[in-house]
Amino acid sequence: MDKLGEALIVLSVSMLTNAAPPVWPSAFSVDFQEQSHLSFVTLFINNGSWYYNFDNKQARFDHLRGQKDWFCMNQHLSDHDKQAPCNMLFSNDTNLYIHYPEAKTCCRLCGQENYCTVMEPNWLKNATFIGDEMFYGSKCHGWQTPGFTFMDTWYVTDDNVPCQYHEKSNHLGTIHNITFNQKSFNLGPPNPDIFNVPSYCHKECPNPFKGQKKSL
Ligand SMILES: *[C@@H]1O[C@H](CO)[C@@H](O)[C@H](O)[C@H]1NC(C)=O
Ligand SMILES: *[C@@H]1O[C@H](CO)[C@@H](O)[C@H](O)[C@H]1NC(C)=O
Ligand SMILES: *[C@@H]1O[C@H](CO)[C@@H](O)[C@H](O)[C@H]1NC(C)=O
Ligand SMILES: *[C@@H]1O[C@H](CO)[C@@H](O)[C@H](O)[C@H]1NC(C)=O
Repeated sequence: MDKLGEALIVLSVSMLTNAAPPVWPSAFSVDFQEQSHLSFVTLFINNGSWYYNFDNKQARFDHLRGQKDWFCMNQHLSDHDKQAPCNMLFSNDTNLYIHYPEAKTCCRLCGQENYCTVMEPNWLKNATFIGDEMFYGSKCHGWQTPGFTFMDTWYVTDDNVPCQYHEKSNHLGTIHNITFNQKSFNLGPPNPDIFNVPSYCHKECPNPFKGQKKSL
């Protein structure tokens, strides 16, 4: 085969693999539905929202009623109603807080010292393209990267609108899905008040996070 033929094949292979992994916009917000399964057992289903502003080093993940988020459930912040709405607030005071807005209870889960920092827009830098899938009628490209205990996959449209975040535990076999409502996607900084730390967020969590991996 001549050089031009080789060049064309290399070019078409790189087009098939969809070039470079996606980079998150530096600021956005989006609503989602979240589900967790262990084999055919559904562990929980709930709605929620993400707010992200990397320019100000802020993020907030709201898990709405029905949530069984591991970090939320184990802090004794709402023992009479553990599945009440719970927010994870990455404040730019460099702490990550767990907050139950209905009970008005809150604690500090971890901070910079445990890598509890806002996800970087290029966290998929080393990800591998795994193919396309349809979500709510849109073709989305899947990019996969191994995490600390999970295999993480991010699906995104051609326009960089998030379709799904998917994590599969290597040990437990649990699957956790966050499927985004693409129509709710908003590019640009969320209302700054979203990231205010409530005054009652002053105590340490009884079960702080001591790990190495940023968790969604
Ligand atoms: C999530 O929101 C949708 C639309 O607002 C609603 O129909 C659905 O019941 C909600 N699901 C849960 C688990 O709360
Ligand atoms: C923290 O966020 C506020 C806005 O909420 C912003 O004015 C400030 O510059 C941010 N600080 C850092 C270190 O990014
Ligand atoms: C990507 O891989 C390189 C080399 O293995 C590593 O140094 C870097 O930390 C990785 N980056 C991310 C964002 O995972
Ligand atoms: C995510 O959850 C949905 C709903 O249970 C399921 O149908 C789908 O297979 C899951 N997605 C992936 C990529 O496993």
